[in-house]
Amino acid sequence: MTENTDSVIIVNGLRLVFDGRAVIDGIDLAVGRGETLAILGKNGSGKTVILKALAGLINEYEGEVIIGGTDLRKLRTGDAGGRPRLAYVFQKGGLFDSMNLFDNVAFGLRRIGMDEAAVGTAVSASIGRVGLRGSEGKLPSELSGGMQKRAGLARAVCMNPEIILFDDPTAGLDPILSDSIADLIIEIRETMKTTCILVTQNLEVAVKVADRVALLYEGRIVFQGGVKDFFSGNDPFAKQFIGGEMDGPIDIF
Ligand SMILES: Nc1ncnc2c1ncn2[C@@H]1O[C@H](COP(=O)(O)OP(=O)(O)O)[C@@H](O)[C@H]1O
Ligand SMILES: [Mg+2]
Repeated sequence: MTENTDSVIIVNGLRLVFDGRAVIDGIDLAVGRGETLAILGKNGSGKTVILKALAGLINEYEGEVIIGGTDLRKLRTGDAGGRPRLAYVFQKGGLFDSMNLFDNVAFGLRRIGMDEAAVGTAVSASIGRVGLRGSEGKLPSELSGGMQKRAGLARAVCMNPEIILFDDPTAGLDPILSDSIADLIIEIRETMKTTCILVTQNLEVAVKVADRVALLYEGRIVFQGGVKDFFSGNDPFAKQFIGGEMDGPIDIF
């Protein structure tokens, strides 16, 4: 891949080994400012661990991860300049069970020491933005699955991030709710000009939201290109993944 200095996310030769097994075995990615890359791959192919590595949640890795111009290794040793403003939307919303919606969304802002008046303004705006106004006092257990996903988005948005990593934001939702989450992601991305990585199993969401697609298989990226090329049927890996066919370069278990 050609080095693109405009890229907000750059991954070179990332390798992640767990218990002697390379779950990710040398991948390169570059995501430009304002661009959305979808990462696709079957269950257990390593999509979540890639996001964790990008978010700085995995310290043991080979290769290079540069986020917003900052090498994550230098960030850890304190040699880096600014910390990139990155938000991670966890697959299950990642909400604290004992906190109501307002406090869940406020958590990150309070942690960085924002004063309570500013927290109130930012949290109300984010909750309104994801369509949850009126539910501020509810506990996660009182929110539906779709509302919990929206709450996770509100928590990310209120930090005003430059980068958002979405881990399967429509998992377990029906097609209509999935589509509304896809619309919300597009709205957030377009108004906030965020750079996004979207891990998903949902091809319709990928088509709708992403500019480019990376298909992960056996620890490597076997296809990386535009959404149109992915669906053109010309690439055997992409074709098999889309068709869910037994026959093709991907071993189906
Ligand atoms: N902390 C860890 N220790 C050991 N193995 C792990 C760890 N995290 C993930 N894995 C393994 O890495 C593989 C990829 O996991 P994951 O990224 O969650 O897949 P996906 O999100 O694509 O479904 C799985 O086989 C999983 O068991
Ligand atoms: Mg996962």
